[in-house]
Amino acid sequence: MRIIILGPPGSGKGTRAKIIGKLYGIPVITTGDLLRESVNQGTDQGRTVKTYIERGELVPDEIVIGIVENKLKKENLRKGFILDGFPRNITQAEALDKILRNNGVELDFVLYVKAEPETIVKRLSLRRSCPKCGAIYHLKDKPPKNDEMCDECGSRLLQRSDDREEVILHRLEIYEESTRPILELYLNQGKVREISGEMEMNKIPDAVRMVLEG
Ligand code: AP5
Ligand code: MG
Repeated sequence: MRIIILGPPGSGKGTRAKIIGKLYGIPVITTGDLLRESVNQGTDQGRTVKTYIERGELVPDEIVIGIVENKLKKENLRKGFILDGFPRNITQAEALDKILRNNGVELDFVLYVKAEPETIVKRLSLRRSCPKCGAIYHLKDKPPKNDEMCDECGSRLLQRSDDREEVILHRLEIYEESTRPILELYLNQGKVREISGEMEMNKIPDAVRMVLEG
């Protein structure tokens, strides 16, 4: 299965991507995580990326497209993938289209995660993420077993630097301006399946199965 997960910041893309990856045994490619890794490596590119992420702006297309292209080269595209956070504008959607065409494969679905801005702002302030393995928690709705330590790998959890209210609001604006237009594009191709970003966590696996298989 080849899927894009699309939706506003904090709608629950990463949470769903991990669930779908486990359900179907397919790799998840999260551009936000890949970019944060490049920041942690402290390269020149990482320093550039950091300035965009901290302001809640999109990282320049040539950087992101290059990173995704490299990552996809290492995967068996016929077996499938889940792209979380890419594409995010028309240029990136066209670049993905070209990569898939060159490899003779097509997208199956675009899973659109719908959530209201009020939910998003409330949620992101309580999100904690594992800087090592990328696991995602919520201090109230999906708390770690041990105080702010990752259940999966034991690392100390962090609050992302772009999860401050003013940056969250800017990320929402950028989503409306740049990313929502690609939802229209995929709607016209008949590939979009919608899933609520607001249901209880334990209902997500069944909802995903229904949307993708039903
Ligand atoms: P990225 O890391 O992709 O961030 P985002 O799109 O803003 O989305 P988030 O990761 O914040 O939220 P999410 O939808 O994954 O929600 P989550 O599952 O964590 O991108 C960050 C930055 O990188 C961008 O701003 C940009 O600078 C750059 N970037 C990335 N891709 C790029 C690209 N293609 N081009 C250019 N720049 C790019 O859930 C949120 C919280 O809610 C969690 O705490 C979770 O536990 C909780 N939660 C989820 N579902 C539920 C539920 N059902 N009930 C209760 N709580 C829930
Ligand atoms: Mg995410």
